[in-house]
Amino acid sequence: MLRFDARDLRNACGSFATGVTVITTRTDDGDHGMTANAFMSVSLDPPLISISLDHKSKMRERIRASGRYAVSILGDDMEHVAWHFAGRHNEALSTILEDRHDLPVVPGAAAVFLTEVEQEVDAGDHTLFIGRVTHLERRAEIGPLLFCGGKFARLAAAI
Ligand SMILES: Cc1cc2nc3c(=O)[nH]c(=O)nc-3n(C[C@H](O)[C@H](O)[C@H](O)COP(=O)(O)O)c2cc1C
Repeated sequence: MLRFDARDLRNACGSFATGVTVITTRTDDGDHGMTANAFMSVSLDPPLISISLDHKSKMRERIRASGRYAVSILGDDMEHVAWHFAGRHNEALSTILEDRHDLPVVPGAAAVFLTEVEQEVDAGDHTLFIGRVTHLERRAEIGPLLFCGGKFARLAAAI
């Protein structure tokens, strides 16, 4: 018998500090964005990254339909953008996304990856989408927005 519940698991995973991304895609239904911290680099050769999406998210079906997605790594002044794409709609941000090779992305992000879905792995109540990177951008001067223990943060200093 397990001696922990879903909340314990979520809290323990929350001890792992991550960056914050906005996943985006484009289908016949329009552009869609979703905040996610379950982002991982997978392989350098070939260039692969992965995201993990809740079965309940709209994004999961959108990516299945489009076969591609973009990942924008948010900068440390973009907490409002993270909330907007996590279900707390902010009218002022409703047209924020801009075009990159026919995919929407967050302008001014610390890094951007455009991908084509290489593999879809169903895992419990989430689905992993492994994407092959076709284009990337990086703005080294922008510090990352962080997420840890259910709170947003920024780097105080490099160790
Ligand atoms: C910091 C943060 C990280 C999140 N990470 C994920 C994630 O990795 N995967 C996921 O499925 N949902 C994640 N969410 C929740 C989704 O952003 C939220 O459920 C969103 O409203 C789903 O959008 P959609 O259903 O319109 O696609 C996260 C939310 C926050 C605030």
